[in-house]
Amino acid sequence: MIDFHSHILPGIDDGSRDFNESINLLKEAKENGFHKIISTSHYAINTYEVPEYKRIELINNLKSEVNDIDIILGSEIFLTYNILGLLSEYKASSINNTRYILFELPLRNYFPNLRDTLNKIKENNYKLILAHPERYKLIQDDFNVLYQLRDMGVLFQSNYASILGLYGLRAKIVMKKMLKNRLTNFLGSDVHREKTIYPKIPIALNKISKIISQDYLDDLTLNNAQIILNGENL
Ligand SMILES: [Fe+2]
Repeated sequence: MIDFHSHILPGIDDGSRDFNESINLLKEAKENGFHKIISTSHYAINTYEVPEYKRIELINNLKSEVNDIDIILGSEIFLTYNILGLLSEYKASSINNTRYILFELPLRNYFPNLRDTLNKIKENNYKLILAHPERYKLIQDDFNVLYQLRDMGVLFQSNYASILGLYGLRAKIVMKKMLKNRLTNFLGSDVHREKTIYPKIPIALNKISKIISQDYLDDLTLNNAQIILNGENL
C-alpha cells in the first residue's frame, strides 16, 4: 500500500520529533502493510516553513537507514492565495514533482474566497487534492460542498482513522458517506507520532472493507496513488 499523507520527517512540523521517531514510524508503516510513504509535512506560512531542499535532505537520510520502504516528496499545504509562489520558489512541494497538490483548510473556520483561490490554482494547470475532507466543519455541516468541490475538479484524500472515530463522530459519519458515494480518491494515515495511527491501520482497513468493494479499496490504498506517482492523470 501507499500512504498518501504522513508527517514522518523529523523536526519539520508537529509530526515526528526526532530522527529516531522517524525510523520507528517507518518500521511501523512497513509492519502494517505500506511499501511507499508520501511525506506530506505541513507547509503553512508563518507556522511551518521548511523549504523543499531541507526536506529532500531528510528524506535521503531516512532512506539510507531503512530498507524496503520508499519515501516520496510532497507537502500538505495550508491553502493560501500565494500557493503558486510557494511552489515556484521551491518552498512547498507538489506530490513527487507532479502537478498534484495536497492542501488543507482551516478545520473550523470558513476560508475566504475559497472558490476564487481554487480556480486560480486550477487555471495554472495544477490539480488539487483536499486532505481529510471529513474533518472540516464546512463539510460536516453541508455534505453538498463536497460535490461542489468535486465538480471544480478537486480530489479527496481521507484518513484511515476517521472510520474509527479518532477525529470525532461527525468525521466518521462523513467518511462513511464519502466511501459509500465513491467520493474518496486516496487514503492516508496522516500519522504524526509513533504508536498512534500505524498500529490501527489493519482494523481501519477491516472496517473500510465492509463498506466498499475490494476493487475500490485497491484503488484507494494503492492504484490511484501509483497513477499519480507515475506522472499520469487520474
Ligand atoms: Fe496532515
